Amino acid sequence: MTGTAFIADLVLTGGTVVTSKSRFKADVAMKDGLIALVGKPSAMPAAKEVVDVSGKFILPGAIDVHVHFREPGYTHKEDWRTGSAAAAMGGTTTVFEMPNTHPPTRSVTELRQKQQAAEKSHVDYGIYGLLAEDNIGELQGLIDGGVNAFKCFMGNTFGNLPSPSTGAMLEGFEIIAPSGLRISLHAETASIMAWRQKRLMEAGRNDPLAHIAARPAIVASEAVSRAAELAEWTGARVHVLHISSAAELRPLADAKARGVEITGETCPCYLLLDSRDYARLGSVIRVNPPVRENSDSVAIWQALQSGVVDMIATDHAPHTPAEKSKAVIWDADCGFPGVETQMPLMLNQVAAGRITLEHYVKISAENPARAFGLWPAKGRIEAGAHADIAVVDMERTETIEASRLQSRGKVTPFDGVAVTGVPVHTLVRGRFVQRDRQIVTETSGWGRQVTDIQRMPPAQVRNADQTLAAVLQGPAPVTAGATA
Ligand code: DOR
Ligand code: ZN
Repeated sequence: MTGTAFIADLVLTGGTVVTSKSRFKADVAMKDGLIALVGKPSAMPAAKEVVDVSGKFILPGAIDVHVHFREPGYTHKEDWRTGSAAAAMGGTTTVFEMPNTHPPTRSVTELRQKQQAAEKSHVDYGIYGLLAEDNIGELQGLIDGGVNAFKCFMGNTFGNLPSPSTGAMLEGFEIIAPSGLRISLHAETASIMAWRQKRLMEAGRNDPLAHIAARPAIVASEAVSRAAELAEWTGARVHVLHISSAAELRPLADAKARGVEITGETCPCYLLLDSRDYARLGSVIRVNPPVRENSDSVAIWQALQSGVVDMIATDHAPHTPAEKSKAVIWDADCGFPGVETQMPLMLNQVAAGRITLEHYVKISAENPARAFGLWPAKGRIEAGAHADIAVVDMERTETIEASRLQSRGKVTPFDGVAVTGVPVHTLVRGRFVQRDRQIVTETSGWGRQVTDIQRMPPAQVRNADQTLAAVLQGPAPVTAGATA
């Protein structure tokens, strides 16, 4: 003993800590929900509990900025208890939850409903507010009321929330920009998709591949370009959700090069599946945006390595088997659960040598924490940070079984896939929420909204004199003596 003055709540001993840059053998002591000490076993304080994690890796828990937990309104698909249990099982310690519930999270009243539903969560969470045409007047209230980010559906998807016109989007960006909060974009252009789907349906195309035909990559690249222009004009911070194509990487990279505050995510399905899987999976693979060509996956992998794509998220989108399995592709609900399978699927890629464990920490924890203002409280294994941890066994092999998912949505294109690399414990603020591949059921309700730790730096607002709010005041008064 070194005479350390406190008694830790928990010490993880014998493991290897992984950061975005390195890995090293160290023990981790936790107290009052925080990491108190990372260091040699001889430096550890006495602890109420010591857990041996020899041979395992200690990662910051994944931060998934894109999940749909469906409550209120669609609890036959998922609710906050089952969705957050899926997160805990998957080594994910913080989620940001989307507003396409019923009712959608459009106003402070609906935010309060969402917050109440979220009280059951096993893991910490951010809550998205909606940016739509019919709630422009509610945006400031949502900011003041404590949303953690905004979501703008440029294209339709589950919930069929109408996409705002570019005019309404611009006004929304103007209102949100000064708050510094990030606006996440479902970047698919609705009018192109509606037109093509109608024409395909008229022509009798009902097969799974017709889904890609209705949403070619131009749908995504046009939307990313347009959103980046609006972000550049207003200074709003934006985030491109579920990057699915090589085509949208160019406007994303260009915008970054111009200094636009833009980040991007992809999801495991766009890295690990492609058009050749449609025949096998049928309507199960239907997701918005669609899984595309192998050449798209290859380009997205490269962008994930180079940093053009900042992070991995899941678009966890559970539906029932009946809603997913349809003979006519247009009738099948889009999306599938992902928050539980992301880490095993990506660790399996680590095991295969496709990405390092360090880079995985960067894209799953550090980068999302930085982009959404949770850094330095979350996303790192260092003294002072939240003790949000995934203990990973890189030798353990498991087979993903849809029927055994914690999620209520028991349909996944990854059913039957064997993976090497599994989170065997998940801790949220020092407490086990998953232990030895079992959910600690009594931790439902332990999760907290991240508002108190979220710090978004002030945004560089641009063209403030030309916002709708400014010009609606009328022309600036002419100062005396200004006339010739
Ligand atoms: O396929 C999808 N399903 N894509 C989305 O963006 C939303 C999601 C859902 O909520 O079901
Ligand atoms: Zn989504």
